[in-house]
Amino acid sequence: MTTVEVPERPGEVEVVASFATSPLGEAPGAAPDGELCRVLGFDAALDAAVVLGRRGPGQPVEVVAGLGPAALVDAEAIRRAAAAAVRATPRVSSLRLELAGVDPPELSSEEVAQAACEGALLAAYRFERYKSERQGSPLERVELAGVDPGPGRRGASRAEVVAGVVTLARDLVNTPAGELTPRRFEELARELAALEGLGIRVLDEQAIVEERLGGLLAVSRGSAEPPRLVRLEHAPGAVAGSPPVALVGKGITFDSGGLSLKSGTSMMTMKTDMSGAAAVLAALVGSARLGIGVHAVGWMALTENMPGGRATKPGDVLRARNGKTIEVLNTDAEGRLVLADALSLAAEESPDSIVDLATLTGACITALGRGVAGLMGNDDRLLAALRAAGRRAGEAVWHLPLPSGYRSQIESEVADMKNIGAPGEAGALAAGLLLEEFVGTTPWAHLDIAGPARSETDGGYRHKGGTGFGVRTLLELLARYEPLGGRAEGLSTGTEVLR
Ligand code: BES
Ligand code: ZN
Ligand code: ZN
Repeated sequence: MTTVEVPERPGEVEVVASFATSPLGEAPGAAPDGELCRVLGFDAALDAAVVLGRRGPGQPVEVVAGLGPAALVDAEAIRRAAAAAVRATPRVSSLRLELAGVDPPELSSEEVAQAACEGALLAAYRFERYKSERQGSPLERVELAGVDPGPGRRGASRAEVVAGVVTLARDLVNTPAGELTPRRFEELARELAALEGLGIRVLDEQAIVEERLGGLLAVSRGSAEPPRLVRLEHAPGAVAGSPPVALVGKGITFDSGGLSLKSGTSMMTMKTDMSGAAAVLAALVGSARLGIGVHAVGWMALTENMPGGRATKPGDVLRARNGKTIEVLNTDAEGRLVLADALSLAAEESPDSIVDLATLTGACITALGRGVAGLMGNDDRLLAALRAAGRRAGEAVWHLPLPSGYRSQIESEVADMKNIGAPGEAGALAAGLLLEEFVGTTPWAHLDIAGPARSETDGGYRHKGGTGFGVRTLLELLARYEPLGGRAEGLSTGTEVLR
């Protein structure tokens, strides 16, 4: 793991990155050599960086990273600029970030330091466990300069925790499904819980039968690997008795589609289908490490979705934990089945709110692409809190409606509901409407992260593969959480759209 320091006096660092806004030459951080920058075609645009070289023998190598227009500089611009500096110096092991002049009005210097470190640390991430030779950034040390040591250190140490747990989530998502089975996920959760002082309870297959988790069982039937339901708890002394925030994650460690088998191409990335559970685990670990004073419970529904001889068949009907029946017409719409049970269990404890994260629908990728998560829910205050948290974290979430008029799309001939909506119509919303059946009156929000959980390109501080999307939004949500004390009266935005 890379270390971050804010020394009283700068140490021996060979490469120094400074920051500039566009157009070049304007404050902050006036570029070291504007003329040279211009000759090299550097315009201080966001994501751009240029290596200027040394001023003389024994001098550090200078890099300048672009923040984009001064009026738009926010934490995300700082993260991306720091990432661009790291990307421009791919073989550098030690980097100093010169933050003097990077002081947008709405950010404290602690927040500036945190954003810069996060961007640098996350950009240096590589998943190289299976590579015979290291190829990635050898960055081992990041030093901050031009920032007061107190806030600088606080920001840097928060960033180390945040980048550490995002790295944990990315590693889990990138680990092949042949290795990261539900049982292996449970083992890792146990190890982390012991290390961080989190409470942990696990339901094994027998307990899952006894607890009547019919959705999780229906999905796991076709697999040789047994399912698991993991409950983690962060209960700081002062708030241990208060209603928790419940975080629920879809943990399909491999989604073959089941008997409604996916194509070979669609299956290639389906080790990613546990990204929701990975984000929940990482957020719980992060809250413990940051000492966030909010009672939080994490629920992870873990199973493979496979087409074995005992697999659920299209047309089968299951009974979920809360007693409602679901006709399974497409076994590839399995995420909502396991979430039905996990949401029911979470709701039984009367939490203050529930937030679920799931790589739930291809339809959400069609609607919003790979950069933006779909946000749905039943309580405007919770939705607003998540949008604000996403904004601070630099994770794009966009509110989609849950029109009650679309509920008819999941009506079944034989059961309380069916697990697919109308072909080609608002698939992300149909899935959201099904989930809503399992949260009762608890304030609830659902993040469909099918798009942003995995990146298909390298850029900024994201890499091809697992992104760890959601972890930082959840930490931001928890860090500023205001208890809701029950659902707001009346309809929430998006419910009234079509009544
Ligand atoms: N895990 C997939 C959704 C997904 C697709 C995530 C692509 C990431 C990338 C989910 O289980 C699924 O297959 N959903 C189906 C639902 C459909 C059958 C109603 C889908 O979106 O096609
Ligand atoms: Zn599926
Ligand atoms: Zn899936």
